[in-house]
Amino acid sequence: MKSVILAAAVTTLLGQVSNAAVATLGVTEIYNPPVQEKYTSGAVHMSIMNAKESTWARQKAAGAFNSSAYTPVISFTPCVNGKAGEYRCNNIDLYSFTPHELLGSQTGEGSSSWGWTSPDGREIIIVAQADGAAFAEVNPDGSVTYLGRLPKQSSNSIWREIRVYKSYAVIGSEASNHGIQIFDLRQLLTVDPAQPKTFALTDAALFKGLPTGRTHNVVVNEEKEYAVSVGASPRTDACKSGLIFIDLKDPANPTSPGCAPQDGYVHDAQCIVYRGPDAKYNGRDICYGYNEDTLTIYDVTDKTNTSVISRTTYTGASYTHQGWVLDPLNQEYLLLDDEYDEYDKVGPARDGYPVTYIWDIKSLEQPVVSGYYKSGQKSIDHNQYIHEGKAYQSNYAAGLRVLDVSSIPSDPTGNGVKEIGFFDVYPEDDASGGLIDFVGTWSSYSAFKSGYLAINTIERGLFIVKLQN
Ligand SMILES: *[C@@H]1O[C@H](CO)[C@@H](O)[C@H](O)[C@H]1NC(C)=O
Ligand SMILES: *[C@@H]1O[C@H](CO)[C@@H](O)[C@H](O)[C@H]1NC(C)=O
Repeated sequence: MKSVILAAAVTTLLGQVSNAAVATLGVTEIYNPPVQEKYTSGAVHMSIMNAKESTWARQKAAGAFNSSAYTPVISFTPCVNGKAGEYRCNNIDLYSFTPHELLGSQTGEGSSSWGWTSPDGREIIIVAQADGAAFAEVNPDGSVTYLGRLPKQSSNSIWREIRVYKSYAVIGSEASNHGIQIFDLRQLLTVDPAQPKTFALTDAALFKGLPTGRTHNVVVNEEKEYAVSVGASPRTDACKSGLIFIDLKDPANPTSPGCAPQDGYVHDAQCIVYRGPDAKYNGRDICYGYNEDTLTIYDVTDKTNTSVISRTTYTGASYTHQGWVLDPLNQEYLLLDDEYDEYDKVGPARDGYPVTYIWDIKSLEQPVVSGYYKSGQKSIDHNQYIHEGKAYQSNYAAGLRVLDVSSIPSDPTGNGVKEIGFFDVYPEDDASGGLIDFVGTWSSYSAFKSGYLAINTIERGLFIVKLQN
C-alpha cells in the first residue's frame, strides 16, 4: 500500500504542473515559480525579523527576559490532569527546568539547541543564548548540570544557531563579524561541574569566510564532512546568501570549497546523501533548501559546480522556513513548515492553527504536496526535527508538539498523523487559548538515547522532558 499516488499531474494553462486531487485540500505545488522581488530583495525576511524584534523589545520591557522571575524545577514533575506544575502538558513529564541565568547567560534570551553524546554515553545539550552557547549535561535522572559556555564571538544576537558535527559544535550567529565557531566538545569531559568553565574564544576554531561574519543558520552533513552557512548577509554577495560550504575534514582549519548561489537566500536546509527511489540521484549529495518562497532541491555533490534540481512553491506560501526528511535512509517524504502563514493569515493556516506541509519527494525533480497536518493549538510553527517516526515541533507559544508521523508512507494525505504529546512552555497565553507571536520555544533536541527531550525557549531557559509512552 505504499506509494499511493493521489492524483495525476495536470498541466495548467501557465504551463506549470499542479496536482489535481490535492487541490481539493486547497494546496497545490507550483514548479519554477516566477522570482518575486519582495523575497529576493529581503523585504519579506526583514519584515519578519522586525516583527520579532518588536515582540522581543516588548517582552524585554515587560521583564520577560528576567531569568530570576522564573522558578527552577529541580525534581521530577509528572504531567497529571493536563498540568506539570504550572505548565500545560499531555503525555509528557517535566524532569527539570533551568533558567537561562543559571546556564550562565546575562541576557536571558534563548534560541536554538543541539545535543551531543560523548563516546562514553554522557548526554550534553548545547543551548544557544544571545550572549553565547551554554553547555549542560543531562543527567540520568533528567536534572541538568551546567558545565560552562563559549561566549559570543562579537556582539549579542538572539539569532544563534547550533548543530553538532562529530564531536564539534558548529555555532553561527546573525551578529556582525561573528563568523562560525567550531568548538571541540570533548573539552567538556574534564570540566569539574563545581567550577563551570567559561571557555576562551581561542578554545574554538573560527571559520572567517563569511562576507560580513553573519549567518542566519548553520547546517551539517556529517557523512560528507562539511557544514553549510545559510542566509549569510548580504544578499548582494557573490554567494547570494545561498549555501556556503565549509569543509570540516580538519575542524581546526575550516575552509570553503564553494557555494550554491543559484536560488538566492536559503533560510534553512538539510544536506544529506540521497538514499531513495529517484535512482538518478542515488548516492548524490543533496540539499533540501527552505528558501523563503520555495522548496529548492540542490545537487551539491561537486561543491565547485552545484546545480538546482527543482524549485517548487505551493499555494498559500508565505515564508518557507524549515523542514526535515521523514526517513533519511529512504527519502520519500519530507515535512515543511511555513513560519508566516498564520501571521499573514494565508492558505490553510489562515485561521491561526499551524500547518505542516507533507511533500512526496519520490521525484526530486517534481516534488508534490501530498497533504498536510493541522495543529489543534493556535500558534506559529517554527523548527521541527524528525526522529524515529516522530516529529518534534517547536511551535513558539504552544510549546513542544510531538507528532506520530509514521503513517505518512501509507497515507501521505496526513490524515493518520496524530499529536501524541505536548509540553507548553509558555503559560502566559493559556487563558487566551493561544497566541500568534514569536514567544515560547525556538527549538528542541530529541535524539538522546535516554529519551530525554531538551526544549530551549526564548524567555525562560531549558526544559528537560520525556514522553510518558
Ligand atoms: C527580576 O525578577 C525578580 C523576581 O521576580 C525581581 O525581584 C527583580 O526586581 C527583577 N529584576 C528586574 C531588573 O526587573
Ligand atoms: C558542471 O556540472 C554540469 C552538470 O550539472 C556539467 O555538465 C558540467 O560539465 C560541469 N562543469 C564542470 C566545469 O565540471
